Amino acid sequence: MKDLLRKFPTTRLRRNRLKSGLRSILAESDITVNDLIQPIFIKENLSGYEPIVSMPDVNRIGENVLKSELQKIVDVGIKAIAVFPVIDEKKKDPLGSEAYKQDNFLNNSISKIKDLFPELITIADVALDPYTDHGHDGVLNESGDVDNDLSLEALKKQALFLAKAGSDVVAPSDMMDGRIKVIRDALEEENYKDTVILSYAAKYSSKFYGPFKDAVESAKFFGNKTKDTYQMSPTNKLEALHEVAMDINEGADIVMIKPGMPYLDIVSSVKEAFKIPTFVYQVSGEYSMLKSAIANGWLSEEVIRESLVSFKRAGADCILTYSALEVAKNL
Ligand code: PBG
Repeated sequence: MKDLLRKFPTTRLRRNRLKSGLRSILAESDITVNDLIQPIFIKENLSGYEPIVSMPDVNRIGENVLKSELQKIVDVGIKAIAVFPVIDEKKKDPLGSEAYKQDNFLNNSISKIKDLFPELITIADVALDPYTDHGHDGVLNESGDVDNDLSLEALKKQALFLAKAGSDVVAPSDMMDGRIKVIRDALEEENYKDTVILSYAAKYSSKFYGPFKDAVESAKFFGNKTKDTYQMSPTNKLEALHEVAMDINEGADIVMIKPGMPYLDIVSSVKEAFKIPTFVYQVSGEYSMLKSAIANGWLSEEVIRESLVSFKRAGADCILTYSALEVAKNL
């Protein structure tokens, strides 16, 4: 490499930047529609749309508009959605028991989505937070902390029902130890051997999830607690590699890093180290920061595309982003 570095003016790096066509054909990374996954929020007993105040241009959607919303996503060529349920408050309890009923709102919705759009890949979170009245991702022990092994039992049942409902991908986002193995074993045993496990392998305990908690209406249940005893500390990078290695060994097909922009170094290191499909989640807070600055005229809309390219450059194969539809329309 060193010998190849020629000197000015033999080498003028600006030559390659002079024309738009040249810039395009020399692009090392770019966004295509196949890089984008659209998360959606579906709300039980809702008719029409309900805006999420802390997430500009994102709505909770009711069952009666689900089909037309999905049609828009399919029409631009997006291949996959991540479906998040907003559950009736009355159904929340300390054990999140609504999560592991076959006949619950999310499972019914997934079956319906797969009937309407069989080709559209559905991804569903495995975690109890939309269903617990304390807002944690698992069940609590006597001292009030999330109990790992008790939670595994609940998550296993939840994942099985999601697979049974027809979800192509189950995505454990709870960060309990051993969950991938427990879920993989259960899926094999029950003959759901083709259900893909997308592990939120390196999920940080991040304040960037704030608007999501509004979106799924768990904010008021969660208050100002933290998930620090199960999600990772933002200070740690080597631990992320350990988490990812464990999840691959336990049977994850795809791993995910979350949040995105503040954790690009993790995306890059994970991809380099493991060379397996690696997704990144541009989370609610990242989305809202960009959108609110754009709405104020402080940033131009192009920052969204730029942020997504940064994920590709870091090595991500695919991006969950609330901007998927909007970006796909303009590709
Ligand atoms: C639930 C879950 C969260 C997100 C996705 N799944 C929130 C959390 O862990 O507190 C965050 C997504 C976002 O902020 O856009 N386990």
